[in-house]
Formats: sequence, C-alpha cells, structure tokens
Amino acid sequence: MTATALIRHLPGLIGQSVALRGWVVTTRSSGKIAFLVIRDGTGYLQCVIAKQDVDEATWETSRLLTLETSVEVSGEIREDSRSPGGVELGVESLATLGPSADFPIGKKEHGTAFLFERRHLWLRSRRQTAIMLVRHEVVQAIRDFYYERDFVLVDTPLLTGAVGESTGTLFETEYFDLGKAYLAQTGQLYAEAAAAALGRVYCFGPTFRAEKSKTRRHLTEFWMVEPEVAWYDSDDNMRLQEEFVSYVVARCLERCKAELDILGRDRGPLESVVAPFPRISYGEAIQRLRDLGSDIRWGQDLGGDAETQLAQQFDRPVFVYNYPRDVKAFYMKQNPADPTTVLCNDCLAPEGYGEIIGGSQREDDHDLLLGRIREEGLPEKAYGWYLDLRKYGTFVHSGFGLGVERTVAWICGVPHIREVIAFPRMMTRLYP
Ligand code: 4AD
Ligand code: MG
Repeated sequence: MTATALIRHLPGLIGQSVALRGWVVTTRSSGKIAFLVIRDGTGYLQCVIAKQDVDEATWETSRLLTLETSVEVSGEIREDSRSPGGVELGVESLATLGPSADFPIGKKEHGTAFLFERRHLWLRSRRQTAIMLVRHEVVQAIRDFYYERDFVLVDTPLLTGAVGESTGTLFETEYFDLGKAYLAQTGQLYAEAAAAALGRVYCFGPTFRAEKSKTRRHLTEFWMVEPEVAWYDSDDNMRLQEEFVSYVVARCLERCKAELDILGRDRGPLESVVAPFPRISYGEAIQRLRDLGSDIRWGQDLGGDAETQLAQQFDRPVFVYNYPRDVKAFYMKQNPADPTTVLCNDCLAPEGYGEIIGGSQREDDHDLLLGRIREEGLPEKAYGWYLDLRKYGTFVHSGFGLGVERTVAWICGVPHIREVIAFPRMMTRLYP
C-alpha cells in the first residue's frame, strides 16, 4: 500500500494533495454535496464531496457509505476554521476498502452490558479512544518519572511460588512437578531483592487478584507500578508518592487537554493536586469518621465508603498512615513506637475514587518477619529467598504500588475502572 497521511498531521499540509485511510463516522448528503467525517485513530476529518468535482463512482460510493466502513480518500487539504483541527479535505476520489453493514453500536444510548459484550467495537468510539489516550499518557509519565530519577526498571515474574499479598484472592495453577504456582498479586517481594542489588528500582506490569467483589474499583487483572527504594523510610516513601502523583496529574493536564474535554472532565479538582498532600494517622482517620457519624472502630479496615468520606474532606489526595498491623500484609514494618500498628500508608484520591496507592516501609528484621510469616500460616520454605534479604546485609527500605486503572479513572473522571483498560477482566467477564 502507498504511504498515506495521518489526520493529526494535516494542519501542516494545507494546500497539498494527500491520500488517507480511515473509518466512516458520519455521512450527510444533499443532492449536490456530501459531507463525510472519517477517523483514523489520530483524529477526525471532515471530507467534502461535490458531485460536480468527482467521477460517478466516487459520488455513488459516497452515497452508500455506512458507519465504520473503511475507506481511502484523496484530495486537497483546505483551511476551514469550523472543522476540527481547522482543516477539511476537498475529495477528489473515494473508495470503499471494507464495507460495514449494521454496525451494532449506533447513536442511541446502549446499556453497559451491551457495550462491554462489544468492547472490541466500542473501543472505536470518541470517548473510549480519549480514555485510552489518557491511559497512554499516564503510563508514559510513570516511565519518565522513574527514568528521570535514576530508578532501574526490573521486570518481576508473573508466575510465583510465594503469596505476595493475601491468600484470599489467589489465582493458582498446577506447575509441573513443583506443586502450585500463583499469578502474581504484586511484584514487590522481588522488587525488594532487586533494590538490594540496584538501590532504586521499580516494576511495572499486570497483577492478578481473584476479586469476588463486583465493585467500581476492582478488576481481576490490573496494572500496577511498584517502586522500591533502599534506605527510604516511611516518610521518604510518602514524599516520593506525592511527588509522583502530582507529576502524573500535571502531565495529563498539560498533554491531554483535548481528551479531558471530550470526557467532560472538570480540570479544577486536578489542578489542586500539588504536593505536599495532607497526612492523617489511621487513628485520626477513625476519629474523623466517627465524628461524621460512622460506627467504625479502631482495628477495622477502611472500606470504600469510609475512604470516600475521608477523602471528601480534602481538596487533594490524602495519606492515611500507620494502620493496625492485623489489617495489613505480613511484610510491613512493625511501628517501634506502637507495635499494634505498622509503618505504612494508603493514598486516597479525592472525588470518591478511594485508594490509589498502598505502600509501606518493609520489615527488615529477620526474626520479626519470620514470626509474621508463621503467624499468617504462610509456607516458610517459599519465603527462604525473601528472608535471605534480611540475613545478608539487611537494609531499611520502602516502596508502594499505584494502581494504573484507579489512577486513570480518577484523572478521566470515569466512574468505573473497567472502562479504562482496553479489555477488562472481572469475575463476570472473560469475553471479548
Ligand atoms: O494496596 P495493594 O494491595 O498493595 C500492594 O500490592 C503492595 N504490594 C504494593 C507495594 O507496596 N509495592 O495494591 C496497590 C494498589 C491499590 O492501591 C490499588 O490502586 C490497586 O493496587 N489495586 C487494584 N486495582 C484494581 N483492581 C484491584 N482488584 C486492585 N487491587 C489493588
Ligand atoms: Mg491496599
């Protein structure tokens, strides 16, 4: 096939003749002139077909086009201030490449079950492509942030022998003669080993949890970025988180204006996302919730509603730190000032999005860690290598995990995280 132009580049090609390929978005025709909007993934372009300027085949083609037909058009790029991108195409020729009869997603409102069953086609919509572009920017911002700060990317395994977070949400499979393997719930434990080798590292990949809850905030497969830093304590860890989250949000404000507009996202709340973020201890969080009328008691984990209520009190993300050790994972460092709590934090996003980050300082004392592994009934043998990190030059270290989908949903202002990953995996969805 011959080279064709991308719609995104057309404003620089005014007066030139170009050929383009794309898909039909709308058509409108009077007796003598037809208007066609096509998209190619980089933008939308209005094409104008004047009957008197084109051959019969082109005119006939233009009259028969239907939604999502793939086409090739050529003609001259003209300035047109009313069009998106400020240009339109004066069509000289038009050909159908692939017909599309009865495209199932039309102009009328469809229910979400209908749309998710047709996710492979729904992705082509203006709103869905805007979300994918914001996600793309978030992922690039994440990589840039760590690259600029000398963090080394370490890819951690997706098949593991040791439980990373909790036994309640494991996907397991038989693994040859070695017994059970689990799909990784986190890359953290491996990132800790890498931090002892490289100092500042991060892993970034898909993680898996057999979440049986059907909430707006849970997928069974989601992406997480997990930095791990040697010599960072819990305070350093929170400072890194606030710098990181503000960086990612600022990048989207700067580079995703058009997409946020398509999504109708109010930019005001995002503009307040500037470090430092407020910090409240778990104990203070419980007190605040009780003052708001909740009957939550010290020792209970914060549920989604409690997180929403707390976060509503602030104009930017808020850290809740030092949770009771009994509601948190075995690897978190015991708080020397209060052994009933651990040195950890969650970061709660505003506007009802809840926890986007979970992080902690790690238990660096061999015997305390072994005690926790035993207490949780975890198979000691599978953690031999993890305990070694505390036997050979143990080190203060901390890290956290940021959920990509929750972050993108919040930045986009999309209520349900299933809409911010191309092909969501949930308890009730494996197709397409
Ligand atoms: O709080 P979590 O479970 O923390 C960890 O996995 C740690 N190992 C991270 C670390 O310290 N390296 O999960 C971290 C984040 C949550 O804050 C949330 O944003 C996201 O991962 N997350 C989910 N996102 C979508 N669907 C789910 N089922 C999620 N579970 C957690
Ligand atoms: Mg968590």
